[in-house]
Formats: sequence, C-alpha cells, structure tokens
Amino acid sequence: MSRPRILVTRRWPAAVEAVLSERFDSTFNSDDTALDAAQLREALLAYDAVLPTVSDKLPAALLEGDAIRTKILGNFGVGFNHIDVACAKAKGIVVTNTPGVLTDCTADIAMLLLLSVARRGGEGERELRAGAWSGWRPTHMIGTKVTGKTVGIVGFGRIGRAFAQRCHFGFGMDVVFYNRSAIDPMEATRYGAVQLPTIEDVLAVSDFVSLHCPGGAENRHLMNAARFAAIKPGAFLINTARGDVVDEAALISALEQGTIRGAGLDVYEAEPNVPEKLKTMENVVLLPHLGSATEETRTAMGMKVADNITAFFDGREPPDRVV
Ligand code: DGY
Repeated sequence: MSRPRILVTRRWPAAVEAVLSERFDSTFNSDDTALDAAQLREALLAYDAVLPTVSDKLPAALLEGDAIRTKILGNFGVGFNHIDVACAKAKGIVVTNTPGVLTDCTADIAMLLLLSVARRGGEGERELRAGAWSGWRPTHMIGTKVTGKTVGIVGFGRIGRAFAQRCHFGFGMDVVFYNRSAIDPMEATRYGAVQLPTIEDVLAVSDFVSLHCPGGAENRHLMNAARFAAIKPGAFLINTARGDVVDEAALISALEQGTIRGAGLDVYEAEPNVPEKLKTMENVVLLPHLGSATEETRTAMGMKVADNITAFFDGREPPDRVV
C-alpha cells in the first residue's frame, strides 16, 4: 500500500524530518520560504496531510471545495487561530496541535521579557554596544524592582500556571489571575496564585500584567483602550500569547501617554510586521516570537505532530485532536 503523501510547510528540526521520512512519503521545504495562499491551496489539493505552522494562514477560502485531498492538518504549534477550524470541521478535516511541550519555555520567555523591561536590559545593552556607557553612577538607568511586586495573569492554563510558579516561588511576587472558568483555589495555591472575578480587578492591582490566553475572535483586542485606562498607573504589559489579544494602536497610545511604564512583547498583530513606533520606544522589549524556540521544545513539538498524523493514518484517534 502506498504511504500517505505529506507536505511540511517550513523547515523542521532534522530529527523530526528524519522520522517523517521513515513513516511517510514526505515533501519538505528545504529553503524554508513561507508558502503563499496559492501554494497552500495547491498543497491541500495534492497531499493527504499538510503540516502547517502558526505563520501559515488557512482561512475558509483555502479549505473549501470538493477537490481538497488533505484529511488532516497536523499543526506545528499549540495555537491554531490561523486555521479556520470551524470550516475544517465542517469539511471533515482533522486538525491537531502540540500542547504541553512548550509550557516551560514560553513561561521562561515571559519571565525574560518581564525582567528585561523592568530592569531595562535591552536599553542597557544597546547603550553599551553603541559605546555610549560612561561608567557606573548612582542614577544611571534606574529600573523597577521585581521581587515582591504583584503580577496579574490573564489566562490560567498550562503556561499561565508555569509563569505564576516562576513569579511566586522564584521572585517572591504576589500572583493574581483572571480565568474564564473558576479554578479550584487549592490548585491555584500550588502556583502561589489567587483568582479574581474580572480582568479589571486584575488590572487594578497588578504591577505587571502578563497575557496567557488564546488568540482568535474571542480574545481579539482584549487589551483595548478602555482596559489600558483601567490598568494600575505605571504597570508593565507582557504578551507572549498572541498579537491580536492586544490592540497595538491602544498599546502605543498608553505607552505614549505614560499610562503604562513599558511593555515586553513576543507576538504582534501582523507578524512579522512590528509597528515602527514600538521599535523607537526604549521602554519596550521586542522579541521575534521566540516563546518555544529551544532545541528541546521545537523537537518535541515536531515529534508530537509526527505522533498525531501517525495515529491518524493508523486509524487511531490522534492524541492532540482539536477538531
Ligand atoms: C504556538 O505554538 O502557538 C507558539 O506561538 C509558537 O511556538
């Protein structure tokens, strides 16, 4: 029997590509150039499985029609707001993701952003590399103390919890959080955290607000002008979730007006485009969507996709089925 034909849209870790080659009739993207909409559509017509990632947009327009050959989208990434999953479901296309394996590394990046923006790490490094450091002095590049401050977490899933644990047990911070559903207080205590009823309650008391909720329609512009107005004056915003959770225009005006003291961002509304204004602001730390970017995690993510599509083509339930 012929092996399923699969297309991997971007370069993946070598160990994962080796596993996929053993199991499937695999096509890889050796020069790692992003596929455009027409190429993604062609792939959906020609392959049994397409393995996209978070930067490949798969709206209904690409998934519709009877000619689609693809039966499973094995997404490389936990977030799947780039795929119209309702349309995939209606078409009987299975979608899987990669939860669990990027929890720690994404929480680490949120911590890196929090520390960098509070202690002016990026700004200090830029000054030094530019040859502009004139030496130690008592008033040089004064930042904000992190230990003992209050952090507010929006979204208390795996990554929100891992971040709470780092903040509370690593940095002696008080942790409050907002989550759509109620979390057992005993469970929250394991992470040193206390649930508050509304996002506004969290914004009002937090020195740092960190976003850990999914992107997509339900949370689009959750941080909007009204919420920036409700934030504790001088707080910092950290976003490692999805760019569309923050209204970037409202963020820029909150930074310009000094409503918030700074921001640490790993994700943006129109990646890879980052508003020029943000790039000019010294009190903003900008990373290029690095949350899961470690060798261990990216390999584990790829192996999860391999397991999901292997289960599917063996007639078993894929472990990380979304629809
Ligand atoms: C994801 O998996 O959704 C991340 O944003 C990419 O690591």
